[in-house]
Amino acid sequence: MTSQAENTNPNPQDRVMIFDTTLRDGEQSPGATMTLDEKIKIATLLDDMGVDIIEAGFPIASDGDFEAVSEISKLAKNAVICGLARASKGDIERAWGALQHAKKPRIHTFIGTSPLHREHQLSMSEAQVLDKIRETVTFARSLCENVQWSPMDATRTEHDYLIEAVAIAVDCGATTINIPDTVGYTAPRESAQIIEMLLERVPGLDQCVIATHCHNDLGMATANALAAVEAGARQIECTINGLGERAGNTALEEVVMALKIRNDIMPFHTGIDTTKIMQASRMVSTVSGFPVQFNKAIVGKNAFAHESGIHQDGMLKHAGTFEIMRPEDVGLTESNLVLGKHSGRAALKDKLQQLGFDLGDNAFQEAFVRFKALADAKKEVHDDDLIALVDDARTSATHDRIQLKSLRIVCGTDGPQEAALELEIEGQVHNHTTSGDGPVDAAFNAIKALVPHTAQLKLYQVHAVTDGTDAQAEVSVRLEEDGKIVTGYAANTDTMVASVRAYVNALNKLMVRREKSAPAPIKAAG
Ligand code: KIV
Ligand code: ZN
Repeated sequence: MTSQAENTNPNPQDRVMIFDTTLRDGEQSPGATMTLDEKIKIATLLDDMGVDIIEAGFPIASDGDFEAVSEISKLAKNAVICGLARASKGDIERAWGALQHAKKPRIHTFIGTSPLHREHQLSMSEAQVLDKIRETVTFARSLCENVQWSPMDATRTEHDYLIEAVAIAVDCGATTINIPDTVGYTAPRESAQIIEMLLERVPGLDQCVIATHCHNDLGMATANALAAVEAGARQIECTINGLGERAGNTALEEVVMALKIRNDIMPFHTGIDTTKIMQASRMVSTVSGFPVQFNKAIVGKNAFAHESGIHQDGMLKHAGTFEIMRPEDVGLTESNLVLGKHSGRAALKDKLQQLGFDLGDNAFQEAFVRFKALADAKKEVHDDDLIALVDDARTSATHDRIQLKSLRIVCGTDGPQEAALELEIEGQVHNHTTSGDGPVDAAFNAIKALVPHTAQLKLYQVHAVTDGTDAQAEVSVRLEEDGKIVTGYAANTDTMVASVRAYVNALNKLMVRREKSAPAPIKAAG
């Protein structure tokens, strides 16, 4: 078992930089759209936990992406802030515009190099793609000293052509060369061989940082990224919880913990404060509405749970028998201290701090009021209850335009099921009572009657925060309107109240999105 201090290797050759793309590649997963406030919260945490480079968005894609990159650039304390751009001067200028306030800006520009991308996506010849690389990397370098270049679909690109393309980017001044496995096609040995081949055959590449960017379509993203590091890559591109298009990207928590725990056979280190991993995982899961699978490595609910008798017996005798890392190394506080209605402010503050929440005075006061209400509704308040409570407080705001005032549900075997709903909309209270196929349908019909909209319900998901019949229900609701996707979230001991509040939360976000909406968003493949 290693500790944070033991991993502080002074040899820069062994330092692997962590490039987090949760806010760009992660946000591209259908349904994972985040608001500006949510992006800022995530970026602040990534910066605090020691992420070296934050890819904050794709500024040409929408005004929202531009604003996110620009605002994150203003607040980042340590991290390099990166904006993505296709191989066009317009994209690169827009990215550079968004990065103006960054202490350490980076332009990341890319173009597809594989035969499939050249012919079918770009309709360009081999020579035309090489000319574009020359033109755009030179232009990006004329604006910014820190330029990353990526040959999209590199792992399906002819080797000789990939060498030629990378050599041009190096020659034109790219400082980081990223090798994307855009469609999650490679395997560990091949991932390493491509890096070794490039290092051997591209003059001057050893003066650049080599990055690895893997997608997880065959479940090998973590293994492929680590193999690339062993071959000479010194930047891993990844996302929290492996969020990303299709099967996602390399998971930050997996590569960071693998390098920490198996430092004996992979002698590399990162600058990540691993005790913030759980907090980041929960935040990204709540904001994106993508639950973390129970058996997910490092951050899954069961990652440190021991159910079988043999395992429990071993754990009681020595934790090392069945645990290769300590829960506290990833920020999981193992605690039997359960709060209840007699717990005061000091106990709550202490507990929230242990869970990694450092709330300001106002936020703490609001959390305390919610905690008291929760402790009245349920006897024991567990760690997971408090995490849900803070997440709920973060997602709903007193200035939201639509607020739930009251809800009455009639349900049971003898229909019809009915919902009597009272909402405050822009300061005015409105009521509606209606029926539906079950209580959720009735309640959502009542919302639609009070706030007419054409958005389609894409996801309705309920999850019990703890065991027991008095558990809080965590509800996620995803809505889609004209290609805009938003996810609402709420937690409550009453499943119906949580459901209505999650729907209302999604509608509030949709109203914000409508106002900021720009022409149809552009997406980078992968
Ligand atoms: O997967 C990919 O190729 C990408 C590029 C934009 C780097 O995300
Ligand atoms: Zn990608």
